[in-house]
Amino acid sequence: MSNSLSTMKLRETIDQVPRFALAHLPTPLEPLQNLSKELGGPTIWIKRDDCTGLAFGGNKTRHNEFLLGAALDEGADYFVWGAGVQSNNCRQTVAACVKAGIPIHLVLSRAHLDGPVETQGNLLLDQLMGASIEFVDAPVGPELDVIIADRAEQLRQKGHRPFFWNRNPVVQIAAISYVECAVEIAEQCQHEQIDPAAVYVSSCGSTGSGLALGAAALGMSCPVKNIAPLTWPWNTATDMAEVASDVAKRLSIPHRLASEDLDVSEDYIAPGYGTPGPDCLEAMQLVARTESIFLDPIYSGKAMAGLIDHIRRGDYSSEEDVVFVHTGGTPVLFAMNEALAEAFPRRECPFGG
Ligand SMILES: Cc1ncc(COP(=O)(O)O)c(C=O)c1O
Repeated sequence: MSNSLSTMKLRETIDQVPRFALAHLPTPLEPLQNLSKELGGPTIWIKRDDCTGLAFGGNKTRHNEFLLGAALDEGADYFVWGAGVQSNNCRQTVAACVKAGIPIHLVLSRAHLDGPVETQGNLLLDQLMGASIEFVDAPVGPELDVIIADRAEQLRQKGHRPFFWNRNPVVQIAAISYVECAVEIAEQCQHEQIDPAAVYVSSCGSTGSGLALGAAALGMSCPVKNIAPLTWPWNTATDMAEVASDVAKRLSIPHRLASEDLDVSEDYIAPGYGTPGPDCLEAMQLVARTESIFLDPIYSGKAMAGLIDHIRRGDYSSEEDVVFVHTGGTPVLFAMNEALAEAFPRRECPFGG
């Protein structure tokens, strides 16, 4: 007997979880007619999670609805968060804290920078929204997490109740939001009368884990194809399956995922995390010049490069539909302006100027 849930039942289950409203939902699902025609393959539908509505949008707006919900539920009065200087996650968490009226301190790693810290892109927005910020040399990962936990402890000693970046609980709580995104995709595909052959997303964490769980719980037939932006020191598919199963336990639904249920590709990371390769730059330019949609050079550009490659190698027919989830990241375009200006030179002036 099938243990699939209806979209209504899964929504009801998610509605039991503490939540703080931040996002414009549902985000649109739109056909990319020009891009699909240009590639000559399936109809590509874009799920506009770059338009979640808060502080330039992105997948973390969804995540933060549940993270703020959890924090407020436990009486938190301070956030301590951290990642790289140009973190979309930090920008979105600052924005969520501003909306909730909670102060936030950021611990930002400058370990990967070649030169000085430049106040551009996400960092500029963090400053504008009023976060307190400290820069550290520790790389993103366990060393940075220790500093974040220390700052939280100092706040606790001063009588605060901090909610801080702590990978395990945070990744699970955030993933709940993408179970709901899967519900939206299922509802919108039904409305459009399409049955997609695949859903593509840039993820190796909460976003893809939640989508995979949502798709499994709803009995969706298509795979969620996670195009990983980086390689973790651990097995990504195993970790994402564990996150999905832990989320299912939190939601009291019976579905459990194993690593073989997670479709993860690490083929589009080159030349490395945070640096776009020629395929990513081509994808960014093609989508901008056919659809006026901006992909970012670290996440969504690489995921689109993966989808384009799969289309070009003939994985889908022109009769089929595929969904691409745009996870945001736009402010990084401005932080990487020099490298990107070189990649996308100005078109020749038709007037000889
Ligand atoms: C724009 C963008 N897309 C995708 C991701 C990946 O999300 P996840 O960590 O849920 O895999 C991130 C993570 O920072 C991001 O900033």
